[in-house]
Amino acid sequence: TRHVALIPAAGVGARMAAGSPKQYLPIGAKPMLRHTVDAFLSSPLIAHTYVVVSADDPFIDAVLPDASDGASRVTVLRCGGATRMESIRNGLHAVRAALADTDHVLVHDAARPGLNAALIERLITETGDHPAGGLLALPVVDTVKRRGDDGIATVDRANLWLAQTPQMFTYALLCRALDAATDPAAITDDASAVQALGLAPRLVEGHPRNLKVTLPSDIRIAEMYLAADAS
Ligand code: CTP
Ligand code: MG
Repeated sequence: TRHVALIPAAGVGARMAAGSPKQYLPIGAKPMLRHTVDAFLSSPLIAHTYVVVSADDPFIDAVLPDASDGASRVTVLRCGGATRMESIRNGLHAVRAALADTDHVLVHDAARPGLNAALIERLITETGDHPAGGLLALPVVDTVKRRGDDGIATVDRANLWLAQTPQMFTYALLCRALDAATDPAAITDDASAVQALGLAPRLVEGHPRNLKVTLPSDIRIAEMYLAADAS
């Protein structure tokens, strides 16, 4: 079976508050989204990469690779939705004719430019053909508190993980899970939709470099990891 990437990149970046969508902000020498796409182009395991942007996105064409460095392995889908989940669902429907039910789809946030080929390989290798798929995630290292009505409690962190992306499922399972989800805003990752079917995706250890760039201060951290690669 083939492995393809699907990158939701139709968000507005409200928390970044940069004036333009955060996926187009420079991280070092390249726009954030170009780093993200290049991670998949650098992996020999990924057959094709699909990028979902909003219908009126004016930035994407200037950001993608040209014919000499991989353009034929990237397709832009101008079908972004109102939420992350809807953007992914629209993208999956748009590529229906190109994919088989058994192909594996790696859904990955445009806003995680620190992904690299080694992490992609780890996810694919460790998830294998697990029927519920798998996702990169990080064990929680901090002490965790839960605030309730009558005070706070310390939550045992031993079994707590922070979900990252990519999250990998067969095309058929991902479509089934997202089509079944009724509250798009409540589904903040794809694994949640699969879990709602009663399945348990495999947790595969990710890396701090794969952080989601959400707030202005995250830009500097992503720059640090990506600059270290270039040197
Ligand atoms: N995304 C998307 N379509 C949406 C909303 C989000 O494709 N309607 C994408 C974003 O572009 C991003 C990923 O989903 O790559 C993760 O979302 P997030 O980090 O929340 O990005 P934004 O929604 O753009 O940021 P914010 O929530 O701060 O507005
Ligand atoms: Mg968002």
